[in-house]
Amino acid sequence: MTSPFLLYPAPRGLHRLAVLAQRSLALLALAAAAAAAPAATLTIACGSSGSELAFCKRHADAWARQTGHSVRTFSPPNNGTEALALYRQLFAAKSADIDVLLIDVVWPGIIKDHLLDLKPYSQGVEREHFPALIANNTVAGRLLGMPWYADTGLLYYRADLLQKYGLNPPDTWADLTAAATRVQAGERAAGHADFYGYVFQAKAYEGLSCNALEWVASHGGGSLIDAAGNITINNPAAARALDLAASWVGTISPVGVLNYGEEDARGVFQNGRALFMRNWPYAWAPAQAADSLIRGKVGVVALPQGAEGGGAAVAGVGPVSHAGTLGGWQLAVSRYSQNPAAAASLVMHMTSAAVQKDRAIHGAFNPSRPALYLDPEVIAANPFMASLAGILGTAVARPSGLAGIKYPAVSLAFWDATHDVLSKKSTGEVAVRKLEGKLKLVRREQW
Ligand code: GLC
Repeated sequence: MTSPFLLYPAPRGLHRLAVLAQRSLALLALAAAAAAAPAATLTIACGSSGSELAFCKRHADAWARQTGHSVRTFSPPNNGTEALALYRQLFAAKSADIDVLLIDVVWPGIIKDHLLDLKPYSQGVEREHFPALIANNTVAGRLLGMPWYADTGLLYYRADLLQKYGLNPPDTWADLTAAATRVQAGERAAGHADFYGYVFQAKAYEGLSCNALEWVASHGGGSLIDAAGNITINNPAAARALDLAASWVGTISPVGVLNYGEEDARGVFQNGRALFMRNWPYAWAPAQAADSLIRGKVGVVALPQGAEGGGAAVAGVGPVSHAGTLGGWQLAVSRYSQNPAAAASLVMHMTSAAVQKDRAIHGAFNPSRPALYLDPEVIAANPFMASLAGILGTAVARPSGLAGIKYPAVSLAFWDATHDVLSKKSTGEVAVRKLEGKLKLVRREQW
């Protein structure tokens, strides 16, 4: 571009002055542009389970005060399956309505085309998060989301009741079934008519795929698809795991679990109406809240493993072990946001160490930053987090990385097959055989 100062060849000294003047003008122009940059109004999606919304608002408002921008919050449906459907509608319309999206650990491969690459904004801060989560969020070299919190399935138990009946927290699913049967009978006989042994999530949605994966993997039945892309679900250990879960429905678990999500299970447990609950870490904070009926009475351990009281494992495709599904949520910027830089700055703030520490201490959200698991204040508030970094390290991943855009169809087929077994429309054996066939149709030539 021609400089207005150098229309004619100028003597050397003058030339230098002209260059200096030109530089200062450019700087002035930048400063003026920055000062005049209109404050943006951003919308961030915040979850609504437990205390999520209150935390999200508080931290986003703090960022707004620091930057002069404003933030609105939006709560997508609590059921992730419905939230994904909503996002996909917004993407189809290239809508700029939501700037910062809350995305599940299994979504990056599904919605990759609609998310901004955060690398230019992150200044390397991704190195402070669990590498497995960063790898999960990186598709074709693009960093599509900053981890916000990590999740894994856990077993919550009523420590007071186990003590009352002289029982220990269960190590195997057989132990869980026996303890739940005994305590449920005892509590009902004592007049607690609507007391149950075990509550979990078995509505036909993503959460059921998470529960079912835990049953299958802990029995040695693998995780649907192996690392080479082979479909492995049709095996006796997987069938047995689903049959065992079906035996709970209507005995130690209310038939209503067939329509339970996370918050439904938590409602029953927190009202003192169940001995055991499968849930994610967030359920700890409300259980310990001042107004909670079960405050001080709850313990948390890894979910049980499949070997029946030391008995032989049924032929499967993997080891019998404690297995919690890997979950968690990331913050991402929509490609259609009209304020991508401000949105990325909000993401970096919300996923910062200070915000994650506050969420961990007061909300029991698992940090995605390993350093926070060594923080004495975090551990004092959530004693189970001391062992959680380890549990997270061995968590079972859903096959979303392998299946990519086909993952929703894989998960739908899995939760449908499982729901059929739980509602006694099918046996485990028939369900896993049919599921294998369906997954082959979904895969076709390759994933
Ligand atoms: C939790 C997990 C998420 C999972 C969902 C299922 O929110 O973090 O990964 O998909 O539950 O309901």
